[in-house]
Amino acid sequence: MVNAQSYPRPIIIDTDGGVDDALAIIMALNCDRFDLKAVTVLAGNIDVHQAANNVLRVIDIVQPKHPPLVAKGCEKPLLRPPFNAAGIHGADGLGELHRFKNADGTERYPQLTVQPSSENAIEVLLKAAEEYGKDLTIVALGPLTNIATALQTNRNTMQKVGRIIIMGGAVTVPGNISAAAEFNFFVDPDAAQIVMESGIPLTLVGLDVAMKAPLSRQAVEEYAKQHPSVVSQFIADCTEIYMAFYRDNEGFYGCYLHDPLAVGVAIDPSLVSTESVYMVVETEGKFTSGMSLADRRDRRDETAAPPNVDACLDVDADRFLKLLYELI
Ligand code: BDR
Ligand code: CA
Repeated sequence: MVNAQSYPRPIIIDTDGGVDDALAIIMALNCDRFDLKAVTVLAGNIDVHQAANNVLRVIDIVQPKHPPLVAKGCEKPLLRPPFNAAGIHGADGLGELHRFKNADGTERYPQLTVQPSSENAIEVLLKAAEEYGKDLTIVALGPLTNIATALQTNRNTMQKVGRIIIMGGAVTVPGNISAAAEFNFFVDPDAAQIVMESGIPLTLVGLDVAMKAPLSRQAVEEYAKQHPSVVSQFIADCTEIYMAFYRDNEGFYGCYLHDPLAVGVAIDPSLVSTESVYMVVETEGKFTSGMSLADRRDRRDETAAPPNVDACLDVDADRFLKLLYELI
């Protein structure tokens, strides 16, 4: 019998090229349920040019049979100045890979010779929306500037997309970059709000679930020892600075798997439980800029405020980690 959801499904990953983005891209490249058509890149954790290099680095490490197109998009948020996370992901956004040498003293991660496509990420998103329509899932791992710009460029075409799975925001827990806001929404709240109003089916993989799926430093190091490979070495290397940040600031030596979880949910939605909510993103607040606000009142007016987001509120972290290990 032919499944209505025939595999492999076309997907696009939209990313700001950080450490957890890298792990998420490795999973997607190794997942045979996906046909990863393109990786569209934007500024967020790091500037867009470095973010694209980081994505190309990951593809070079994984060496997939059919490498996806890598296209650069927005260089800054819609209205705000850029705000990066180099202090968390390392100066190159990917754990400062230039530090690592092979046993013979040569660079473990020499400069790449490949370049991103000359196509713009916004064109790539619109073309894919036109070509694959409802079959297309976009997994958004960074600020939502590329997707909002594509909506501003051609709303009707973008509305053909089947679903956007967004790593961003929070419903029941505090923010991470500020008391109110999660990083991706904080960087470009205007873009996030445009996507909330898009009418495209949205799944929100926010901090509610991302922070329930930690990965310890010890687990990464043991994995690299037990399964020595270019990929496991890369994971151990690129997560070093990122995990040290959590050790020094959040009291556990490891990291959260924000972006990998969004890819996990794209692969297997049964990993999470969701609640349909009406969500807006604060674009002006002095203390709350970038805050995702879900209206969970019983007496909410369904007509004025219909649900626009399936927000993930719980996750089977063990099953997710199993999936992660299968795909790295
Ligand atoms: C998000 O912020 C970024 O730094 C991570 O890559 C992730 O997408 C978590 O708040
Ligand atoms: Ca990210």
